[in-house]
Amino acid sequence: MIAIGFLLISSFYGCGGDSNSNSSAGTVNDNNGGSSNTDGKNGPTVSFAAEIQGPIFTAICIGCHFTGNLDSLPDFSEGKALQNLVNQDASLTDGGGKRVLPGDSVNSILYQRISGIGLPAGEATMPFGDLLSLAESKPELAAKIKTWIDEGALDN
Ligand code: HEC
Repeated sequence: MIAIGFLLISSFYGCGGDSNSNSSAGTVNDNNGGSSNTDGKNGPTVSFAAEIQGPIFTAICIGCHFTGNLDSLPDFSEGKALQNLVNQDASLTDGGGKRVLPGDSVNSILYQRISGIGLPAGEATMPFGDLLSLAESKPELAAKIKTWIDEGALDN
C-alpha cells in the first residue's frame, strides 16, 4: 500500500573522485563582475577570513579539530588554523607532505583530504565519518579552499 520507501533511494553521482580534476589555472572565478583574474594582477579572489575560516573550518571542522582532542588533530579554530596548516608537515596522513603547500592545492594534504584526489588509499576524506567528502557534499566550499591554496594560502 505504501510505497514511499522507494523515494528514499537517491542517486549519488560521484563527483569525479577517481582521478585528478585539475582544471587549468584561471578558471576558478566565473563571476563576471569585471575582470577575469587570469594573470594574477587582480589579486586573490578568495578571502581566508571571510570564506574559509568561518564558513568551513569553524562551521564544519572544529568539532573535531581542536587542541586536546584525540589523535592530536590539528586545531583549525580561529587564530590557530593558519599556523597549523601553511607549510606544516602532515602528521596523520600516510606518505606525508605539507598540509598546505602554498600555490599547489593538488599536493596539499588539506585539499587531498577534502576531495579524495591524490589521497593515499585507506585515508579517510573529511569531514571524517561523513558519507561524502566536502568536495562531493559542498563543492562550492571545497573550491574555495582549492583556490585559496592556489592563490598562495594568504592570511587575508
Ligand atoms: C568527526 C571528526 C572530524 C571532523 C568533523 C573533521 N575531521 Fe579532519 N580529521 C579527523 C580525524 C580523526 C583525522 C585523522 C584521520 C586519520 O588518521 O586517517 C583527521 C585528519 C585530517 C587532516 C590530516 C592532518 C594531517 O596532519 O595528516 C586534515 C587536513 C583534516 N582532517 C581536515 C579536515 C577539514 C578541512 C575538516 C572540515 C571540512 C575536517 N577535517 C573535519 C576528524 C575530523
